[in-house]
Amino acid sequence: MTVFLDNILVGVLDRFLPETYPIKNDKCQESKEILDDPQLALAMRQGTKVVHRAAENSVFTRRFLKGDITKDEYGQYLRSLYFVYKAMEGLLEKHKGDPAIATIYFPDELNREQALLDDLSYFYGQEKLAQVTHLDTMTPAVIRYIQAMEKACTIDPTLLVSHSYTRYLGDLSGGQILAKRLKKHILHLDKEDSSWDSRIGLDFYHFNNISHQNEFKSMYRQQLDQVPVTARTKDLVVAEAVQCLELNIALFDEIQAMSDSNQLERTDCINTTNDSVDSNSTDDSRWARLLKSKKPLYAWTTGLATITALTYVIYLRRKRN
Ligand code: HEM
Repeated sequence: MTVFLDNILVGVLDRFLPETYPIKNDKCQESKEILDDPQLALAMRQGTKVVHRAAENSVFTRRFLKGDITKDEYGQYLRSLYFVYKAMEGLLEKHKGDPAIATIYFPDELNREQALLDDLSYFYGQEKLAQVTHLDTMTPAVIRYIQAMEKACTIDPTLLVSHSYTRYLGDLSGGQILAKRLKKHILHLDKEDSSWDSRIGLDFYHFNNISHQNEFKSMYRQQLDQVPVTARTKDLVVAEAVQCLELNIALFDEIQAMSDSNQLERTDCINTTNDSVDSNSTDDSRWARLLKSKKPLYAWTTGLATITALTYVIYLRRKRN
């Protein structure tokens, strides 16, 4: 009877105190092993396929793709991303000594905080920059996103890999498609003339220290496959990437809701066609816009006017002599 009770007791303790009896716990040992070939890049791509589709299909993103968003909406998009990148890049810097983060940490090539500040200052004007980037203006979806990243780091800094992957590879992929929509429909640049290559207001999409984006993406994926993960961490990293895409969808939905309820801050740049801004713009700003667009017609007209004026001056001088 005592032996019987002892066996039950040992069985119970074995179940609930696995660390005390490591010899029996093969499963626990196994899960702590770093995988030789984790294929993390593939796992993340496959694991986020469905939620990526959802991100592409959110109302705001579909409107963005159609070239249907206003510059006030785009301004809020930049503001939300500014806070997110500032937090994410701060956390990556803080954890750069972690072996997982060190493997995928490319601040010179990827960091976007300054680029977002430059674009914000273009869209809202330098004077309003401090106001639109003030921490008190963070929206609920932005706060939840940042809290999720901070929480992820307390569980395991490796989970930051998912946030870095989702945003940066996204910027180097779909982000480049969005940049073209932005140029055409918001900045009204013309593909046929040199204004198309303008970077004003488009810093977010330009990675100055990456000369070949596809090569960089391949290299980044190879690095993902070098991140030291156990089977369990690998699953958590994929799950975190799914969560990260959901947090992004929440950002987009929030911008849409703010727009629907007229809660967006007005942007203030000169190079776009938000009607009220255009109608209030000064002659100087119109000139700046004309010169920036470098349209051949304007160049010809200006050239012709200058030649006519010079000819007239020469004619008057000769007549006087
Ligand atoms: C307009 C919406 C979007 C479009 C059209 C789009 C398009 C694309 C395309 C074409 C690729 C494949 C690129 C390649 O294989 O080299 C891609 C990859 C990716 N996109 Fe998007 N995307 C969109 C939105 C998003 C969003 C909102 C995020 C996250 C914030 C995101 C994150 C990613 C990531 C992480 C990859 C890399 C997948 C991988 O190769 O592992 N995308 N996207």
